[in-house]
Amino acid sequence: MNGRYFVVFAFLMLINSVSMQSVHVVNANLGHSVILPCTANHRTLTVYWRYNDSKTVFDIIKGEVKFDEQDPVYKGRVGCFPLEFAKGNFSIKLSKLKKSDVGIYTCHFPSTLTPGTVQLRVTENRTGDVMRRPDSLLLFLLGCVLLSN
Ligand SMILES: *[C@@H]1O[C@H](CO)[C@@H](O)[C@H](O)[C@H]1NC(C)=O
Ligand SMILES: *[C@@H]1O[C@H](CO)[C@@H](O)[C@H](O)[C@H]1NC(C)=O
Ligand SMILES: *[C@@H]1O[C@H](CO)[C@@H](O)[C@H](O)[C@H]1NC(C)=O
Repeated sequence: MNGRYFVVFAFLMLINSVSMQSVHVVNANLGHSVILPCTANHRTLTVYWRYNDSKTVFDIIKGEVKFDEQDPVYKGRVGCFPLEFAKGNFSIKLSKLKKSDVGIYTCHFPSTLTPGTVQLRVTENRTGDVMRRPDSLLLFLLGCVLLSN
């Protein structure tokens, strides 16, 4: 690769990694709870949490939680940390995770155009299944060896 192209390539990779950092990827287990992080870098007490830029997850208006517009899917499953508001921490806790919770969560501030973005992935805890399969395969093979003798 020509040196000049390499510099351009390295620069593009750098831009890519920097822009990637602004999206938090959060993995959580089905049925468990998860904290979706959001921090304000300016003074505010109003934050709108949205799912896939459509459903209302949670609204904090002038430091108070408003449930008026919350989508029924999130009813009773979202909590926040009011003691953290003064520090600009508007993270929320989403409980009893469902498969359908997978998607993009954004926290919008009235005075800024770019929202905080969290990508939630929900994984099923299949550790048990994965562990069992090699075991039964091993037993099957062992059985074959014993039978063939
Ligand atoms: C925000 O508050 C939550 C809940 O207390 C905590 O888990 C998280 O680490 C805090 N985030 C920051 C950036 O302080
Ligand atoms: C939300 O967005 C995610 C990823 O962009 C997509 O997989 C999911 O189907 C969307 N959910 C809804 C209800 O639109
Ligand atoms: C997966 O499930 C097992 C058994 O139910 C449990 O012991 C383990 O802690 C779970 N793993 C995670 C990451 O939650």
